[in-house]
Amino acid sequence: MRWLTTLMLILAVLVPLPAQAATVDKPPLAPTPPMGWNSWNKFRCNIDENLIRQTADALVSSGMKDAGYEYVNIDDCWMATQRDAAGDLQADPVRFPSGIKALADYVHAKGLKLGIYSSAGTATCQGRPASLGHERADARKFAEWEVDLLKYDNCHDGGIPAIERFTAMAEALRATGRPILLSVCEWGANQPWNWAGELGHMWRTTGDIADRWGSMVAILDQQVGLEKYSGPGRWNDPDMLEVGNGGMTMTEYRSHLSLWALLNAPLIAGNDLRSMSEEVREMLTNREVIAVNQDWAGVQGHKISDSGDLEVWAKPLSDGGAAVVLFNRGAVGAEVATSAAELGLPAAPAYEVRDLWSGQETVTLGKVRASIPSHGSRMYVVRRGVPAKPVPAVATAVRTDTEGFVKPGQTFAATVSFAVDGLPAVLAAEVALTAPEGWTIRPEGRTGTPVVVPGRPFEARFAVKVPGDVRKGVFELPARATYKTVAGDGAEREEPGYGSVIVAEAPRGSQWLSDLDPVTADVGFGTMGRDRNIGGNPIRIAGVPYGKGLAPHAASEVTYYLGRGCTRFSADVGVDDGSRNRGTVTFHVLGDGREELAATGVIKGGERATSLDVDVSGVLALTLVTGIGPDNNNNDHSVWGAARIACAGPSTTVTATPTEVEIGAGGTFEVSGRLVADGTEPITDVRLAPSAPAGWTVSGQAAQAERLEPGGTLAGSWQVTVPAGADPGAVELPVAATYRAQDGSTPSDSATVKVLVRPAGVVAVKEAESGTLGGAARVSNCGACSGGKKVGNLGNGAANHLTLGALTVADEGEYRLILDYLVSGTRSVFVSVNGGPAAEVRVSGTSFAVPATTTVKVALRAGVNEIRFFNDTAFGPDLDRVMLAS
Ligand code: GLA
Repeated sequence: MRWLTTLMLILAVLVPLPAQAATVDKPPLAPTPPMGWNSWNKFRCNIDENLIRQTADALVSSGMKDAGYEYVNIDDCWMATQRDAAGDLQADPVRFPSGIKALADYVHAKGLKLGIYSSAGTATCQGRPASLGHERADARKFAEWEVDLLKYDNCHDGGIPAIERFTAMAEALRATGRPILLSVCEWGANQPWNWAGELGHMWRTTGDIADRWGSMVAILDQQVGLEKYSGPGRWNDPDMLEVGNGGMTMTEYRSHLSLWALLNAPLIAGNDLRSMSEEVREMLTNREVIAVNQDWAGVQGHKISDSGDLEVWAKPLSDGGAAVVLFNRGAVGAEVATSAAELGLPAAPAYEVRDLWSGQETVTLGKVRASIPSHGSRMYVVRRGVPAKPVPAVATAVRTDTEGFVKPGQTFAATVSFAVDGLPAVLAAEVALTAPEGWTIRPEGRTGTPVVVPGRPFEARFAVKVPGDVRKGVFELPARATYKTVAGDGAEREEPGYGSVIVAEAPRGSQWLSDLDPVTADVGFGTMGRDRNIGGNPIRIAGVPYGKGLAPHAASEVTYYLGRGCTRFSADVGVDDGSRNRGTVTFHVLGDGREELAATGVIKGGERATSLDVDVSGVLALTLVTGIGPDNNNNDHSVWGAARIACAGPSTTVTATPTEVEIGAGGTFEVSGRLVADGTEPITDVRLAPSAPAGWTVSGQAAQAERLEPGGTLAGSWQVTVPAGADPGAVELPVAATYRAQDGSTPSDSATVKVLVRPAGVVAVKEAESGTLGGAARVSNCGACSGGKKVGNLGNGAANHLTLGALTVADEGEYRLILDYLVSGTRSVFVSVNGGPAAEVRVSGTSFAVPATTTVKVALRAGVNEIRFFNDTAFGPDLDRVMLAS
């Protein structure tokens, strides 16, 4: 055996430990993935000791404790805003008056464990005191309180490498002598799977989950390839469960839980256990699904096949069986299939298939498949052998001859097939297909048969007609097969099939995507902005305005039907300035089958846009995906600026300059317009001119062309005069084009000039950001502000002021000072003209994102004036712009 020891020594020298994590002699906890509950997903900072006690009660009364849920974890915001006199963390005295030790006692008395939270930083993510530099003292406190788990976060890292910060806490916990499970929450930023298992028992692999379908699948995608790093005592953590929080459908939650169980994810519920529905309770306590997660062999499941939206995830079990999740992440129902061999099971005459959600047990000769609705899944355990009363596995599937997309008015063929995958045969099979209201369905031939044997599916064909006036979108075509089994109980059974089609029309010519309806749009928050950011304001990336564009909050997936008729997709991608230089996003352009056609690295808020120009020839459906970057999805205001698609057909692009004009009533300005025929066909009778609102005058002829070949252009320029009596405010002035296409249709196109009519009598205008800033006053981006910027951090100290000079007026006298400001609440700014006495201007508003206006009187001298804005004692409003009017 000596040689073996020597060999091991040599290997130990030659093979470096993963990364540089010191090996902390961590306590042997979490032989199977930890289970429990955490306050963050549902309650954020709105937590107190009653919630924790009631949740512990609910864990017991709901049966969750019996099902294996053990840890009651208090996330961020449990601590007071200050450490105590001795420098120790202390519980928030208002929300946790009895202290953490009392809670631990309460939870322990119920046979549960208590988890707590801190950050490897100078503050927690919510700005409370955190443990960087206090590791020893804080770990001692946690041990003294008899805490059983620490979730250790990554905010405010003080510029110190993660491994150092997390090692310090692991060592400190170890030094307490109390076995405390360490949950490393580093968001997957520094490949924690390479080092966190040496320090703790689980590690987050991604940014934060949100209670949204798009977020859940984005996280799922990031688990691929990580399976080899996890095992007993060291688990990949794709973040806590959102089941029951309301942002996904029950079908989606079931997929979420099935996949998390298969991934050996720590199952940490994140909903309100005190008021969950019976359906949610049953879902969370499904013993068979939990048993897959807790299988003692601890081999993590992984994706074994992926064809576009249809995925198969599988996990070997310690008893020789395999758990499998058939997953359909697409917008339409489809069959997902695998086999006993693909699941890694040894060859056998037959296999038993147990459906973990329905409890149904069937036998298959090898095929493992099912029809799955959009966003749905089936979870099975497959084992060699035959159950006592064998009932054959069956599958009902719906196929169409349309590739999934149909046009209004179209008639298409749908086939319902009913297959028997196990023994024995089934009798009296009958299939049915249902179409949406207003659609017609006609069977073409038989819909039933006396016997169906394995390997010879029964098929029935139907002609389906889509009404001409149908809306665009997804329509379900549910099918059903009824049959009787020979063996087993002989009862009549039913197997559903989930068919669907999408009504869509392919775009013609070049188009802004924001002018088209997407087939589906899953976004991480709110609804997708079209030509507006998610706050409803103009889109800007690093100060550059985009009149057209898509603004989905990450994580997002938005799909457009192209019908194989388009050639290029282009966009300038980045983070909207509404995120105030925060947010981190990745962009991915996917073609059919989720093929990545283009992608960016991580783009941060405030960074200049990245231009994408992608060949989409032959693509049936285009999917635009944004990911949340290495942190959470906060401020991930992703933008596809000027997102455009070039397709076959007639098309034009119209541009107008300037895009924004500010002018007083009665004033005249010049507008130029340009049209490019950028389609694949010539266009005729082309005309381009501003179409001014009533009362406005346009001088100059419309630009005209009899015929433009593809690539041809037409340009013109005009003088536009605003009526003297025009009201102040924004007016849209379209520069509009009309033309005739080859097919005789007469499309139109336009670009818009935004005209800001100034109040009458304005003699001077100054953007706040053009002034001289003192102290902490800062210029920041502001999508809704004129010039896209504003000045903030004014006041709260004499140094923090703004001075606008070069305000020139012709005559001495009293003027109106029109102030565009931003504030939420009420604040004061003081105004001093030419060093004179200060006048207080009190302003109120509802938002720091959208400016409001107030007017005050000021006395000015003839010639150049200077106005100073300040507040020596309290914060003032943000300022966008000032105008002087007579
Ligand atoms: C980070 C973590 C979350 C949660 C919050 C609390 O975002 O990743 O899971 O703990 O902090 O502030």
